[in-house]
Formats: sequence, C-alpha cells, structure tokens
Amino acid sequence: MTKTKIAILGAGFISDIHVESYQRFIPEAEIVAVYARNAGKAKAFADKHHIPAYFDDVDQLLAQTDCEIIDICLPNYLHAVNTIKAANAGKHIIIEKPLAVTLEEADEMIATCKAKNVKLMYAEELCFAPKYERARQVVKEGAVGEVYMLKQAEKHSGPHTDWFYDINLAGGGVLMDMGCHAMGWFRWMLGNAKVKSVYATMNTVLHTGRTKGEDNAVVIVEFENGVTCVAEDSWAKHGGMDDRCEIYGKGGVIYADLFMGNSALTYSREGYGYAMEKADTSAGWSFTIFEEVYNQGYPHELKHFVECVREDKTPLVTGEDGRAVLEMLYAAYASAGQGKKISLPFHAKVDKPIDLWLNAQQD
Ligand SMILES: NC(=O)c1ccc[n+]([C@@H]2O[C@H](COP(=O)([O-])OP(=O)(O)OC[C@H]3O[C@@H](n4cnc5c(N)ncnc54)[C@H](O)[C@@H]3O)[C@@H](O)[C@H]2O)c1
Repeated sequence: MTKTKIAILGAGFISDIHVESYQRFIPEAEIVAVYARNAGKAKAFADKHHIPAYFDDVDQLLAQTDCEIIDICLPNYLHAVNTIKAANAGKHIIIEKPLAVTLEEADEMIATCKAKNVKLMYAEELCFAPKYERARQVVKEGAVGEVYMLKQAEKHSGPHTDWFYDINLAGGGVLMDMGCHAMGWFRWMLGNAKVKSVYATMNTVLHTGRTKGEDNAVVIVEFENGVTCVAEDSWAKHGGMDDRCEIYGKGGVIYADLFMGNSALTYSREGYGYAMEKADTSAGWSFTIFEEVYNQGYPHELKHFVECVREDKTPLVTGEDGRAVLEMLYAAYASAGQGKKISLPFHAKVDKPIDLWLNAQQD
C-alpha cells in the first residue's frame, strides 16, 4: 500500500494527539516531518515519535519534504500564515481549530486553497467523536423526534501553555478556544442550518491575573429553523476535562459525555499516574479515562482527511465551516460587549474577535 505522507507543524499538546491517531489508527498515513520553532524541541518530538525529519523553519520543511498533507497544530495566530504558505506549496491542509483569528484571514485562507486547488479541512473532532456521532445517527433515525434544543459544554480549569492566555496570540479566551467546538457541533447537528442570532454573556472569574480573555462564557444561538442552542464554556471548572452534549426533541432526549462518561471511577488513597486531561490530581476519587484520543474522534477525523486526499473527495468539514464558526464567535463577543442579541450575517473590522467585547466594556 502506498502511504500518504504528512508533515506536522507544531510539537505541542495537540501534535502528540494527532501523531498517536496517525500511528495507531491510520496505517495508510505516514508522518515524514515535524516543524517546531525550536530545533531541539523539533528533534525531541521527532525522536519520540520516530519521525524521520525535523525542521525549525516552515519554508525549508515545505521545500524539502515530499509530503501531500500539512497538518497545522500551531497557536491560533499562526494558522493563516502557515495555511497560505502550505497552499502555495501545493499541499493539502488540515487545520486545527479555530480556523483563524480574523474573518479576513479566514477568507484569504479559503481563497488561496481554492486558487491553488488544494483541500482545506477544518479539524472539528466533535463531528467525528464516536459517542456524539452515534447520538447524531439515532437523531437522524427519529429517536427523539423533532429536535428543538441542543446544548454543548466544554470545561476545564485552564489551558496548558501561556499563548492561550495572550489574547493577541489566541484572539480571545475560552470562547475562541472551546466555544468554537460548540458552534461547530451545533451547525453539524443541524445540517449547517443558518444562524439567525447570537446572544452571549462572559466574564473572567479564575484567571484574572493571567489573561484579559474571558474564562467563562454562555452563548445562546438561535437558528433560522427554530432550534435553540446553548453553549457553556469554561476555563474555571476544576476536576478535569468535561465535554458533554444534550439533544432535546419533541419525542425524547439524549445525553452524551465524552470524558467522565467514558471513564472508570477510581478511588486512590495515594494517587496514580494519569487520570484524564486537565485533572490536577488522581488522589481521592478520579475519572480514569480510557482511549482518550479515540473517544474524542481524532483518529476518525484525520483518517477522513487522508481518505479525502487519497480519493479526491471533499472533506465533510471545510474551511467555509470554520469561517461560519468564527463569524458566530465574532457575534458572541459583540453580543457580550453590547449586552444584546446580534443578528447574523455579522462582520466587524477588528484585529481579534475579543476586541468586540473588551473595547465595548471600556466605552
Ligand atoms: N481540537 C482540539 O480539541 C484542540 C485541543 C488542543 C489544541 N487545539 C488547537 O491546536 C493548536 C495548538 O495547540 P496546542 O494545545 O498543541 O498548543 P501547545 O502550546 O501545546 O503547542 C503549540 C506548538 O506550537 C509551537 N509554538 C508556540 N508558539 C509559537 C510561536 N510563536 N512560533 C512558532 N511555534 C510556536 C510550540 O512550540 C508547540 O510546538 C491551537 O490552535 C489550538 O487551538 C485543538
């Protein structure tokens, strides 16, 4: 079998998850190179995962690597520049969420990939997470009747590296980081229905000394088809990662929980190695997760993109979907800033989405 060659940009948290997904679950894929800005870190990552080449310069990687796919796992502010570089080098791109910091960047990324005739997949793993997908399938079968409300929540006690807390690099706080999952999943569940309005409230409750970004947010999204969606996102919730959804229909309801609901419940007097993402301790009662990467849908998501490239198919989740999510996030920040519901389509010329909240607060 010929293998599809992939280069990964970034050597942090999500790169490890992508590599585990490719290496354990996608035999038709082969990781041929990794980029990190620090050569030592790139080498250490390459050694750890048996990747044959490492670079501390993206241009060199693109020039010297015979890969078909660039998998971008870099901080948000580096998404657009590297997508455009990769597209210009004729590579297909899978990009981690959020698609970009600004809508202008998103438009340029989409236009460049179109012009260069390369595929751009927006990596929203909730569209592939097995438990969420099982729920979506039974909804399609009519299990809960006509859906009138969706809820999705993602919460933990705060990200693992500094750039997430720097609004100039991330574009915002928890909404940019985790609210994008809810927005993407709502659209996915509703067949990319059109959004009518967004209302949001947010504040900084736990990380006030570390970030200007919001670390707790609630967003209500009204879709044109009459479905109401509620997103709860937090970096202020202790006790490990929480990712859950609720689907309400006129004939039933579904609850799905990706972390605690996929864990053994453990009591340990002394504590033990690893319980689950963002758990600060494993002493006392803990949720002992199994197949954490698989349960979140990363192997399924990445395998889908490899298949799209191998068989020349359009990805199920595209750059346009990532842009639609970003527009909802803009509207959420504007709503929190203005204290009112924002109608879509919505656009504002800002350096970063969170300005729509922070600047309005100063008025
Ligand atoms: N799908 C998900 O659920 C999920 C989960 C985590 C992260 N992500 C996304 O993946 C991307 C990376 O996040 P992460 O958690 O791996 O972050 P990380 O901080 O763990 O790793 C980031 C990587 O980028 C490199 N980097 C950092 N600053 C850089 C700079 N200024 N120039 C060049 N390289 C730099 C780091 O060295 C590291 O290799 C982000 O866009 C994030 O939103 C997605």
